[in-house]
Amino acid sequence: MNHFALPGGAGIDLARFPVDARDRLRAWDASDDYLLQHLADAEVALDRSPDGSAGSLVILGDRWGALATALSAHAPVQITDSWLAQRATAANLARNGRPADAVRLLSSRDRPPARVDVLLVRVPKSLALLEDQLLRLAPAVHPGTVVVGTGMVTEIHTSTLELFERVLGPTRTSLARRKARLIFCTPDPDVLAARPANPWPQQYPFPSDVPGAGALLAGRTVTNHAGIFSAERLDIGTRFFLEHLPTPADGHHVVDLGCGNGVLGLAAALAAPGAELTFLDESFGAVASAEQTFRANADPATKAHFTVADGASGLAPGSVDLVLNNPPFHSYQAATDATAHRMFADAKRALRQGGELWVVGNRHLGYHVRLDRVFGNCRTVVGNPKFVVLRAVKR
Ligand SMILES: C[S@@+](CC[C@H](N)C(=O)[O-])C[C@H]1O[C@@H](n2cnc3c(N)ncnc32)[C@H](O)[C@@H]1O
Repeated sequence: MNHFALPGGAGIDLARFPVDARDRLRAWDASDDYLLQHLADAEVALDRSPDGSAGSLVILGDRWGALATALSAHAPVQITDSWLAQRATAANLARNGRPADAVRLLSSRDRPPARVDVLLVRVPKSLALLEDQLLRLAPAVHPGTVVVGTGMVTEIHTSTLELFERVLGPTRTSLARRKARLIFCTPDPDVLAARPANPWPQQYPFPSDVPGAGALLAGRTVTNHAGIFSAERLDIGTRFFLEHLPTPADGHHVVDLGCGNGVLGLAAALAAPGAELTFLDESFGAVASAEQTFRANADPATKAHFTVADGASGLAPGSVDLVLNNPPFHSYQAATDATAHRMFADAKRALRQGGELWVVGNRHLGYHVRLDRVFGNCRTVVGNPKFVVLRAVKR
């Protein structure tokens, strides 16, 4: 946990979610600080007017709830695609003695508020996600809406500014301060009226040259909401995994852990329509994509569950026969194997005796060492110069 000093002298204690004592990464950065300082210096009105006609404060992309917690006295609405960000916000509110309902937590898939008077945007890593979020919110924005974005210098590109310009109106940036920058956008009624149609979600036809379980998907339509992993084409690691995917037995419970658009779980379901599938991801957009992809392609009799969650932590111990996992190796810009390691431990807990975890990963990530430590065994099923498919069995 670390202390975040707020403008005016007070401060709040913040942590990422889930809390990991060895994790030295802070739950806020200079861009959060810069934005809050600007709101104070410019005396931006954040409170509702007495008649309720103005003051609706919306925060997009708040990574660990630093902004929502700092501004919780102003009844903000937080919109995020990340379940972890939502849980972090709830935990940080509680940590600082703020009521749970001080912030309205909406996901990227929820209907956005009807009116926005102040829009604060922590620029997301994915331009596509920003595009989708701005386009979904644009009908609620009016010429009086104060729009301020923030991000680290490395995260704000010409394309980021162009996007604000194309969807909302004229946009400029501040000077950099401690490697962070602000974005000021003035909503323009003509731009708002002429904004482009939202291109998300997008679909692509699954390629027809993937052997193994991948062949079952040939030509099928894959749906991708904005910002999800490899939304525009099949990832090469996923492709390699599909070539070597195990076929589950009928009746087996198979988990697609970190499912993205769900092509791994869908391939397993097409190979064994009598299996039961659970699709899990911490991204609301990913789980929505997996569900749409599955419903459009799977046998309607195949049982499937779609859950937004942190890894497999919510699955009943011993309830799973097979886990398929292409783990994440980034948390925002930072490379980390902490999530993969948590997923492996969770998967072991969820598996029954004799159940198997299959993992694809970049060879250099060394997942086999970790799997061997967690499971006491790990076999390389197949490898190429870049990727390995690994299998660990719960003994
Ligand atoms: C490398 S992608 C794999 C996606 C998909 N399985 C595929 O192969 O195309 C990793 C996925 O893990 C998800 N993820 C990241 N952290 C997670 C967490 N703590 N719990 C669940 N899913 C998570 C990401 O949203 C992403 O969809």
